[in-house]
Amino acid sequence: MPLDIVVGAQWGDEGKGRMVDLFAEKASIVARYSGGDNAGHTVTVGEKIFKLHLVPSGLARPHTVGILGNGVVINPNTLLKEMNMLRDGGLEINPSRLVISPNAHLITPVHRALDAAQEAQRGKDQIGTTLRGIGPAYMDKSARRGLRAVEMLDEEAFADAIQMHVNFANKELTGVYGAEPLDPDMVAAEYLEYARKLKAYIGDASGMIERALQDRQYVLAEGAQGTLLDLDQGTYPFVTSSNPTAPGALVGLGVGPAWVHEIVGVTKAFQTRVGEGGFPTELSGEMATRLRGTGANPWDEYGTTTGRPRRVGWLDMVLLRYAMRVNTFTALALTKLDILSGLPTIKLCVGYRRDGKTFADLPLGLHEIDTFTPVYDEMPGWEEDIQSARTPDDLPPQALAYIRAIEKSAGIHVGWVSVGPERDQMVSFADA
Ligand code: IMP
Repeated sequence: MPLDIVVGAQWGDEGKGRMVDLFAEKASIVARYSGGDNAGHTVTVGEKIFKLHLVPSGLARPHTVGILGNGVVINPNTLLKEMNMLRDGGLEINPSRLVISPNAHLITPVHRALDAAQEAQRGKDQIGTTLRGIGPAYMDKSARRGLRAVEMLDEEAFADAIQMHVNFANKELTGVYGAEPLDPDMVAAEYLEYARKLKAYIGDASGMIERALQDRQYVLAEGAQGTLLDLDQGTYPFVTSSNPTAPGALVGLGVGPAWVHEIVGVTKAFQTRVGEGGFPTELSGEMATRLRGTGANPWDEYGTTTGRPRRVGWLDMVLLRYAMRVNTFTALALTKLDILSGLPTIKLCVGYRRDGKTFADLPLGLHEIDTFTPVYDEMPGWEEDIQSARTPDDLPPQALAYIRAIEKSAGIHVGWVSVGPERDQMVSFADA
């Protein structure tokens, strides 16, 4: 069996956890390859609801092994809390069920302090980060002075490394940002505790994946964030500091491309974004509230990690086609179609206009998306509640027409459509 990759096609929060949960049913390994506890997914298992940020959401399926790949940055405090939350929920969490790559980097309080200080200094040019220390942790990794999980195996050397790390960063915190320094002894003591609890979980993650694939087992690579937040391919500088796109899965897990089978791009039936940056189809006023929801339901458009209201807009096919280009999706999963029920008309952005010219594509990449006005196709909506639909035949013709329009514009098949928050509220087009 091959390696499948689940990737967010937009700015994150597309409902990837939902698709991972579905595919994890037949997976023996579910592996996260990028990002850290800036992600957020809610997994419902029976009566239990798990709000997870770091561990692979596929771990909620008791038969899977979860991996945190080398491309992930780990806040050990978050990790231990989530492991306990899953245990409290009745799941077995031990070193044969969860494996941390030795090369995954650690997030420390230094990184969170730097994240906050850097955001404050950016003033009106803030990125709107989640303040989880993600950017500074990846900066240390690129600067080749980061702390890797493997270092937790040697307690004495690890304590020294933590102290050096805090002392070094204190110069930047106080000197550059005028922020408070951190106490190296306290951080070292805290991280030694984490090391003692986590060292048994460190294992050859890349080798395990390779062996499972050789053994014809099914491995699922679970993306976090989304294509448009990718450090290299996204709306830079309003991006995260890792590579959530499909190629990032290979680098972030330590496996080669020949194993890849399906690359499933997950997109909402509309568009959302948290944090700053361009958003051509963004809506305001009543229609925005209608798509966002009021926050009364867990599935309303408010950040799982930060609680911030998400910016919302119509689905942007220029950006989805771009996501196709950089990921080579083999199928799309369309989520939250039910949110569009009851709208008299639905708009689909099929191109951009600027200075009297129309563009089907981005002439110079994503950095100038702010300069375009969207060109919309307006389609009739549907009145019916579609939450009980389970097959394509259960969907109203207008909903099917909307799905077909997306397929035609993206040049790719929609394989799954979610029509409600529950695990079974899913229409599969696999045989359609
Ligand atoms: P950072 O990853 O915390 O550095 O944040 C950088 C940008 O990515 C900000 O705009 C965040 O709002 C956004 N971001 C990070 N993680 C997620 C996510 O899981 N969903 C949606 N947006 C995210």
